Parts: sequence; structure tokens; C-alpha cells
Amino acid sequence: MIKQKEFAKRRLQLMGVAGAGSVIIVRAAAQKVRNNDVHYPYRQNSDFLYLSGFSEPDAMMVLLPQEKGSRSILFCRARDSHREMWDGLMTGTEGAVEQFGFDEAFPIGEMEKRLPQLLRGCERIYYDLGKDPDFDQVLIGWMNDFRAKTRKKFLAPDEIVALDHSLHEMRLFKSRTEITAMRKSVRIAAKAHQRAMQVCKPGMNEAEIHAELLHTFTSNQCEASYIPIVGGGVNACVLHYISNRDPLNDGDLLLIDAGAEYDGYASDITRTFPVNGKFSGPQRDLYQVVLAAQQKAIDVVRAGNPWDHVHETAVQVATEGMIDLGILKGSLDEALEEEYFKDYYVHNTGHWLGLDVHDVGEYEIDGHSRVLEPGMVLTVEPGIYIPKNATAIDEIWRGLGIRIEDNVAVTRDDADILSSDICKTMEDIEELMAS
Ligand code: GLY
Ligand code: MN
Ligand code: MN
Repeated sequence: MIKQKEFAKRRLQLMGVAGAGSVIIVRAAAQKVRNNDVHYPYRQNSDFLYLSGFSEPDAMMVLLPQEKGSRSILFCRARDSHREMWDGLMTGTEGAVEQFGFDEAFPIGEMEKRLPQLLRGCERIYYDLGKDPDFDQVLIGWMNDFRAKTRKKFLAPDEIVALDHSLHEMRLFKSRTEITAMRKSVRIAAKAHQRAMQVCKPGMNEAEIHAELLHTFTSNQCEASYIPIVGGGVNACVLHYISNRDPLNDGDLLLIDAGAEYDGYASDITRTFPVNGKFSGPQRDLYQVVLAAQQKAIDVVRAGNPWDHVHETAVQVATEGMIDLGILKGSLDEALEEEYFKDYYVHNTGHWLGLDVHDVGEYEIDGHSRVLEPGMVLTVEPGIYIPKNATAIDEIWRGLGIRIEDNVAVTRDDADILSSDICKTMEDIEELMAS
């Protein structure tokens, strides 16, 4: 668990970036209705979680950086014994101070009365406009009121600064405790993937494998960090395949893309393996290409290398491999230059990973790919997908979809592959499935 002290440190760091005279406002995620009075499972806004660990809806954080004694304030639901009979214990304002380390806490119902007072004397508001249009209007209304009424009697904010940039730059660099949480998330995902390999047999349904993944997540007190993709045969070529309802056929491959969420942190892992436990000839050849592309790409995950070097490396190895197998025609230079590989290598090779699966953080700075630095965590996930209707190439390849995805932390030395324990070579996969 991330400790109260670390959350307080993050709030202080953000307040340091914003500087005295600023006020930072972060709103909790709203609860989403599924239908009538039934809600989707609640997930806190990751910015809010990062700064507090507080996971209830109807809350707002106000941070007031000051030269002497910065303050953090939480507006949250007041405890209510009737509501608690339906929904369980609430933190309440006392809990917000005692358990979450806020300097002060007030019931969310008092926000409209108290917030304008807190804004008096501030020059600028750090806030993400556009995510909650109703509150945007309230805030802008207050600013206009201030402007009309103050006549310079007191200082009032007349500027809204996007919060994203400074906060997301902090979130991009993971602390030691965050890496530990991510390792746990990966470890649980590893169990889920290995269990899926062990139980998979021809004649099962994708839904049964989906259920096995959820069994592992739930029994480890986690949830899935996104809806798992369980695609047998040609379904593996549908990148966001989540219906997971088709039979698993002898001779087909199965692609599973599934991760856990532990303490708010996501893992995001893909393995592709044969439903019957034995790779066929063409499956073996294509798998070897994707694996080689991934291994070479992981080799360049090093502090100092540009981020896009990871993708370029994977694409080059995959393209070379596809030419050798006769899937692509022409020379390597031509296939890269004319981007022939894009018929079968259709997505980027990775993304930042953290509290969000596709985590925050810029990929470019001043129009150039940013350089990898220790503390960044990313996925490395090359994939080759040959549609059923790719009639221009030999039919032995058609309908094959293979992706291999690991979670990798950048260090000062070699990459730290958080998911290195999950079977990945064909020998290891076949051995596990036979056991
Ligand atoms: N699971 C989503 C992705 O791999 O990016
Ligand atoms: Mn994935
Ligand atoms: Mn991914």
C-alpha cells in the first residue's frame, strides 16, 4: 500500500510546481449510471488517486500552496448512517484528516459556500477545464463575479492553468513504492496468464478462459485493469476483441491480453499460445518473428534512448522476418520506406503504464521523441495480424494473430522486465501446457 506520507509528499511537490498564489483544484470521478439506480463499478480519477489514495466519489481536493505552510483541503461526503446502511462505511471529514492526512476537510455540500472564500487572494487556478462542463461554468462564474465586485479590494484569480502538464509529468516517473505496486499487479496477472495456459483445451469456449482470468484477479482481491481480450483463431486479429464468446478450436492460437489492477496500478500483458498446447509449423515461424522483434525492442529500452527507437526497432525486426517468410515482398529498405509492414503490423509498440493502462505523460517534447529516463514504465508489445482475407499471401499465414506484451521499467542499466516470469518462449509455453 502507498502510505499517507507519500501522498502528502506528492501534494507538496505539485504545490511547489504551481507556486504561491496558486490554487489547485482536482475533482473526484463521477459515479456512472449503468441503468436506473444501478451504477458501474466506481473507479476514482487517477489524478485524484495519485494525490490522495482517496477512492470515494463526490469529492474535491483543493491545494493551497503558500510561502509558509501550504494547505491541502478535502471536500467529501459527510458520514450518514442511513447511507452507510446501503453502501457501507464512508470516510467522512474526520477520516479524511486522520486517515488521509488532509489539513482540513469539509462536507461536499459546503463546497459552493467555502470555495469562493478559498479562492480570494489567489492569482491563478490550476484546474482541468473540459472534464466537467457544469463545474467549469460554476468556476468561471465565480471568477467573473470576483472581477466585477472586487475593484482591486482583494486579489482574485483571473487565470486558469491546465493542471495536466505538471501533474502528468510527475505521474510519468514512478517511485520505488509505485514500482513495487506495479510488480504486484504484474505478479497477479502472471498467475492469471499461466493458469489460462494450464487449463486451455480444444473444445473450451473463450468465455471459460475469460472466467479463469477473472477468478485469479478476484481471488487475489484485484480487478481486471481493462476488459480482457481472449481471442481464439482469427479473433486474435481484432485488436479490441472483448466479446470472448467463441469456441476454441484445435490447431488455433489463442491471444490473451489481460492485466490486473492492484492498489490502483495496472499491468497490461499479452501472451499468445496454441489452444492444443503445440505450435504448428507456420505458427512457430511467425511467433519467432514477433518474439525476436520484442526481444530486440526490449534491448533498446534504456535510459538515454529515444522512446520511438523501441517501436522502430520492433518494426525493423518484424519486417525483416515477414520478408524472410515471404509474407512481405521487396527489400527491407523498401518495405520500411513504403510502410508495407503496416498491412500486418498495425499498432504502435507500446505506451506508458501506471495508474492508467494507457498512462499519462508526453511522448514528444518540442516535436521530438522524448528520451527514456529511469522510473518510466512502458509496455513493449509488437504484434503481427494476418487477416483471413489476405489473399495476396500464402494461405498458411491467413488468420494468424500474434502479440507478445511485457511491462518494462526503465533503469540506469538494463531494462527491468516486470513480467519476465511469465512463460514466453515456445519451449516454456509448451512445457507448461503439457504439465
Ligand atoms: N490492453 C491494451 C493495450 O495493450 O494497449
Ligand atoms: Mn495489452
Ligand atoms: Mn498495452
